[in-house]
Parts: sequence; C-alpha cells; structure tokens
Amino acid sequence: MNVAAISIFPEYFAPLSLSLIGKAREAGIIDFKAVDLRAFTTDPHRTVDDTPYGGGAGMVMKPEPWGDAIDASLAQFQDDVDLVILTPGGARFDQRYAEALSRAQNLIFACGRYEGIDARVADYYRNIGRVRVHEISIGDYVLNGGEVAAIVIIEAVARLLPGVIGNPESLAEESHNEIGELEYPVYTKPAQWRGLSVPEILTSGNHGAIAKWRKERAGEISASRRGHTGE
Ligand code: 6GU
Repeated sequence: MNVAAISIFPEYFAPLSLSLIGKAREAGIIDFKAVDLRAFTTDPHRTVDDTPYGGGAGMVMKPEPWGDAIDASLAQFQDDVDLVILTPGGARFDQRYAEALSRAQNLIFACGRYEGIDARVADYYRNIGRVRVHEISIGDYVLNGGEVAAIVIIEAVARLLPGVIGNPESLAEESHNEIGELEYPVYTKPAQWRGLSVPEILTSGNHGAIAKWRKERAGEISASRRGHTGE
C-alpha cells in the first residue's frame, strides 16, 4: 500500500517509523511518505492560508498549494487513489471504515489546519475520476489539525494489511466479533498480585465456560462505558 500524508508539519509523522508500522515499512508492505505542503507554495512567505470569503474568525487554507501537492502525489501513484481529507466535520471513522480503506492501493491524507481547506479542493478531486474523496473525522472533539487523526487512521488501516500484525489470529478474532465483545478484562502471570487474584474460571481449562464468562464481562463493561462523558 502506498500512503502519502500532506501537511505543513511533516515531522508529525515520525512515530510511523516505530513499532509494527515501522517494520511494515521496512518490509515493503507500506510505502509511506510525509509531504511538506509548503514545498508547493510559490510566494516568498510560503503562504498556505488566507482570510475566509464571507468573513468570520480564523484562516482558511488556500486551494493552490493543496492542488499542486495532491497532483504531485497522484503523479507518483498508478491506478485509483483514495484521498482522505481530515476534517472535524467529516464522516466518523470506525473499524468498518478502516476495513474499507485497507483495500485501497494508494492513499493520500490531506491534513488541514486552521478553519479547514478551501472546499473547492474536495469538489475538484471528486470530479476528476480516478480519485475517491473521503472527508473523515475521528470523533466529536476538535484537534488543532488533521495530522494526529491521519496517524490514527493509518495505524488502524495498516494493521489490517497482511503481514503487519505478528499474530493474524488476533485480527481474525477482532473481525469475527463486535468490538464491544472484545472488551473483557485480561490477566497474565503472576496469579496473585498485591492481594488480587486472577478469576478462577480462567485457570479452569473449560474453554466454553471461559468464552461465556468473557462475553458476560464484555457486555457489562461496554454497557457501563456507553454514554460516558469523562466527567
Ligand atoms: Cl480529522 N481534524 C480536526 N482538526 N479535529 C478533529 C478531527 C479531524 N477529528 C476529530 N477532531
């Protein structure tokens, strides 16, 4: 899979050199490039933003550097491209969306800052063919820019690619279960720790009873967390 992330802070993507994603890059499963948006400006001040038409607070990202940066990435890729524009107003990212994006050959992430990217950029790429445009948010809260959201999406997508996760059984388990069903409490050695013991059923060897117990605990946990506001 080819992945490009366009941003005014390409250094934000340094963590993608670590851990399983870093190994997947070394193994050639993922080709990732961070692209500096400012390299596509043409003025001495390397301007990427301007005031909004219609007035209002904040600044809007200018379309020209985005168009030139996205075109440059498109030129590097063969075949179809999925263009992900990160915006707090986008469609909510979830596991199903991760699975859909994991089938892409080429992904470009456009990480906006300020009040967002001039809306004509999304419209333009929606209408040229070859590109599927996705406007995505990772949740109902506001970040300073799309970079962290892009990293979240890249990690969720990359771990679904064959060869990225050491134990593919954990992926199979995730895909055959609702996410909530996997939220049972987990334990490892030692059996006693600071006066707390591991639930006896987990050492019983009764796999049917263990599966039933886990399902019940997961149900309790997801019910008590749903609607949680952090207050
Ligand atoms: Cl994709 N961008 C920003 N700026 N904030 C967000 C987001 C994206 N998703 C949730 N909050």
